[in-house]
Amino acid sequence: MSVTIPAVKLNNGQQMPIVGFGVFQIPAEQTEKAVSEALAAGYRHLDTAASYGNEEAVGRAIAASGIARDDLFVTTKLWVQDAGEEPTRAAVDASLQRLGLDYVDLYLIHQPYGDYYGSWRTLRSLTEEGRVRSAGVSNFHSDRLVDLAERTGFTPAVNQIETHPYFQRQTDQDVMAGLGVQHQSWGGFAEGRNNLFTDPVLSDIAAEHGRSVGQVVLRWLTQRGIVVIPKSVRPERMAENLDIFGFTLSADELIRIAALDTGASLFFDHRDPAMVSALGSRRIHE
Ligand SMILES: NC(=O)c1ccc[n+]([C@@H]2O[C@H](COP(=O)([O-])OP(=O)(O)OC[C@H]3O[C@@H](n4cnc5c(N)ncnc54)[C@H](OP(=O)(O)O)[C@@H]3O)[C@@H](O)[C@H]2O)c1
Repeated sequence: MSVTIPAVKLNNGQQMPIVGFGVFQIPAEQTEKAVSEALAAGYRHLDTAASYGNEEAVGRAIAASGIARDDLFVTTKLWVQDAGEEPTRAAVDASLQRLGLDYVDLYLIHQPYGDYYGSWRTLRSLTEEGRVRSAGVSNFHSDRLVDLAERTGFTPAVNQIETHPYFQRQTDQDVMAGLGVQHQSWGGFAEGRNNLFTDPVLSDIAAEHGRSVGQVVLRWLTQRGIVVIPKSVRPERMAENLDIFGFTLSADELIRIAALDTGASLFFDHRDPAMVSALGSRRIHE
């Protein structure tokens, strides 16, 4: 199937499709099928992570697809256990091996914990070596993002953070725009929390356009210039989540959606000491 997906331009000139396919919580044994179906639906941007345990399956689907490497945009992420200069180099090598790729388009520091300044130095070298096309971060609050960008002089291309109608992150997006960092949403549907798919405001707007709530949410995010990576294991939803460019939300509709913001996470705050401790000590390999 041929689908045209607009791209955003990162701060190093690289193009990134504004819609990708996320594979968090897809069990490894189901991931090859899901990614193959997503590629058949027209996705060309894939988002995985070392900690998801499914990079090999993503790699098998890429290899089986026959799609030219240049036509794909592949992201993976560094787990906290591998923070630091040398461990990061080894972790990138291991991810590339599992993915069966010579380079990734985007490599993110998954969490703002551990020696991520050491990781960042290594990622800068790896972008120069070409093993990583763009380097970025995830789950960085704006204070940490500013410090990393300004103290190192190497600005992340992307910050991937929880962003959905109940946690809209406008202030963070403004900080990112000031730095030249592309805002990427994870959990764009809040994984369905807060009854997002039956939200009355979103349902009314969806009905006005003859679209689904999911499409309204993804259109709202992309109209804000935010890159999205919806996850689904169902081919009909994969197609639905890509088909979001045939309508535009009005200024009035944007205001109604803006009013849904609670300003707080529906998951957890990455500054919560209990989470810093729990995630920081999680191990994904020996
Ligand atoms: N950097 C990070 O720390 C971080 C954290 C979380 C996620 N992520 C990334 O962001 C991606 C997306 O986030 P997420 O997977 O947490 O959640 P999400 O995309 O917000 O929501 C996924 C859920 O929505 C359902 N769904 C998908 N499309 C739908 C539609 N059109 N209508 C109704 N239901 C629909 C899916 O069910 P079915 O599968 O049954 O369709 C699944 O239960 C992840 O896959 C991952 O790549 C990153």
